[in-house]
Amino acid sequence: MSTKELIISILEENKGQYLSGEDIGKKLNISRAAVSKAIKELKNNGYTILSVNKRGHCIPSESNTLSAIEIKKNLKYNNQIIIKNSIDSTNTDGKRLLIENLSHGTTIISNEQTNGRGRKGRYFFSPKDTGIYMSILLKPELLSLENPLKITIATAVALTKSIDELCKKNTLIKWVNDIYIDNKKIAGILTEATTDFESGSIQNIIIGIGINFNTSIFPEELSSIAGAIFSEKDSVVNRNELIARIINEIMDTINDLNNENIIKKYREKSFLIGRDIVFYEKNIESSGRVIDIDDNGYLLVQTDSGSKKTLYAGEVNIKW
Ligand code: BTN
Repeated sequence: MSTKELIISILEENKGQYLSGEDIGKKLNISRAAVSKAIKELKNNGYTILSVNKRGHCIPSESNTLSAIEIKKNLKYNNQIIIKNSIDSTNTDGKRLLIENLSHGTTIISNEQTNGRGRKGRYFFSPKDTGIYMSILLKPELLSLENPLKITIATAVALTKSIDELCKKNTLIKWVNDIYIDNKKIAGILTEATTDFESGSIQNIIIGIGINFNTSIFPEELSSIAGAIFSEKDSVVNRNELIARIINEIMDTINDLNNENIIKKYREKSFLIGRDIVFYEKNIESSGRVIDIDDNGYLLVQTDSGSKKTLYAGEVNIKW
């Protein structure tokens, strides 16, 4: 473990209590100045550490801080975890960090995003402390990837399983990347890829996941459509536990991408099958009823004009 990780684990073991820089230094056999420097860096990385003159340093017991150590405690895999306090977008940051040769599964998590991005260039509301904004980097050569849509499908299935089981909720998936609880969108997925210009091959996949964990205040334009897993104070788990569970479920699912249970689960969890929808093809609006999702994850629609259609991607809206 690095010095910073060791300091965090000492402070976390003593949550709510102040430990002097000297005591921490003695435990780790480093100077007080080295402790101060590491604590300053930890604060810059997003850790909530209180520092009081003559008392020392403390992680408050009610802390809702994102913590790589807490996350790793519950991880089944050896994903590298990078925590940020504030970033424009974890997906954008993931792309920037690729020059550092990040390993398969590296996960970047931020306490807030100043330019969170959704599909179709939309913004994703990402306030501090109440959401989970994370991006998992994957190396396609380690996956048996035939159809890129499967990545988003597998992520949606893993996400619903994690939230249902850990948070005791009943989520549904709105094709293809939105997660709903009680008719409100509580999470979205944005899967992106970087390609090699010359060969056109996919070099990296970045799965971005944004979750309203216990967000209670939304901008006006979202207030009727967005919700959160928990209301402001009733969360029975913390963000670190849920993040670890999500990473575990995603890695399990992604490692077995061609398992037919993924698409089975995706169908079972569909918010759309049997519903009337409006969809758009080349900006032309049509409507119909969703009959099924096929084995590739495509949407099968009985249109109001009497034909059957397969939708491969794109935007659909539910007729409420
Ligand atoms: C959508 O609802 O259209 C997808 C939203 C995806 C948001 C997540 S938050 C983490 C990652 N970083 C981003 O900028 N976007 C994704």
